[in-house]
Amino acid sequence: MRRTLAAGNWKMNGTPEMLAELATLTGGASDTAPQIIICPPAPLLTRAAEATANSPVDIGGQDCHANAKGAHTGDVAASMLKDAGASAVIVGHSERRADHHETNAQVRAKAEAAYAAGLTAIICIGESEEERLGPDCLDIIAAQLDGSAPDSATAENTVIAYEPIWAIGTGRVPTMEQIVETHDMIREKLINRFADQGENMRVLYGGSVKPTNAAEIFQAENVDGALVGGASLKAADFQPIIDALAAS
Ligand code: 13P
Repeated sequence: MRRTLAAGNWKMNGTPEMLAELATLTGGASDTAPQIIICPPAPLLTRAAEATANSPVDIGGQDCHANAKGAHTGDVAASMLKDAGASAVIVGHSERRADHHETNAQVRAKAEAAYAAGLTAIICIGESEEERLGPDCLDIIAAQLDGSAPDSATAENTVIAYEPIWAIGTGRVPTMEQIVETHDMIREKLINRFADQGENMRVLYGGSVKPTNAAEIFQAENVDGALVGGASLKAADFQPIIDALAAS
């Protein structure tokens, strides 16, 4: 049984005032309930960890450097996220792949840095709209998965997030058929490469997940939860998504 996961990616949004909402989220208390992870911008991590100290909400970073320390102005090491109270970190989000030209090899190195610091890596993959319309869409996603996931990935240290780029922040989502087909392919690849660990590794869907569409998306057997952007910013939007996951 894979424990379901509702992860919120605040991206470059968030104020100290918004942190109080985190403590109101409910549902992650036991192993049978969905795990909840919120990933605020790095300067808010410590306060987010304090705000959730007595709640079931876990905290994550949005990126880390592949190196443990050094002359990398503006970057953050995985161990620093851990020290700030994070237990996970998103790596390879499509916005970082686009804005910062991150390659699969770099994403893989970041995931390895996360493991070394004791963090779970949430590794993002997903196709562009042009790729979705072309004949090789699943092969492209599979190649991203192969290139971005380290050989040392386990069900414990890794979560895969499938996020079609064209569905992020657009209000558009793939058809259920596309979601099922893609997640089934990812599961098959994970089992081929990681055996039991691949069977137990969580695979999230991300891209315009809302209270209105979450329940349907969570029906898919190989969708173990969601990576949520905009709808994770307010408890009133995120809580119904957690509840839909709990009911799935
Ligand atoms: P939205 O939920 O705002 O579409 O963002 C998805 C995402 O990019 C999460 O990482």
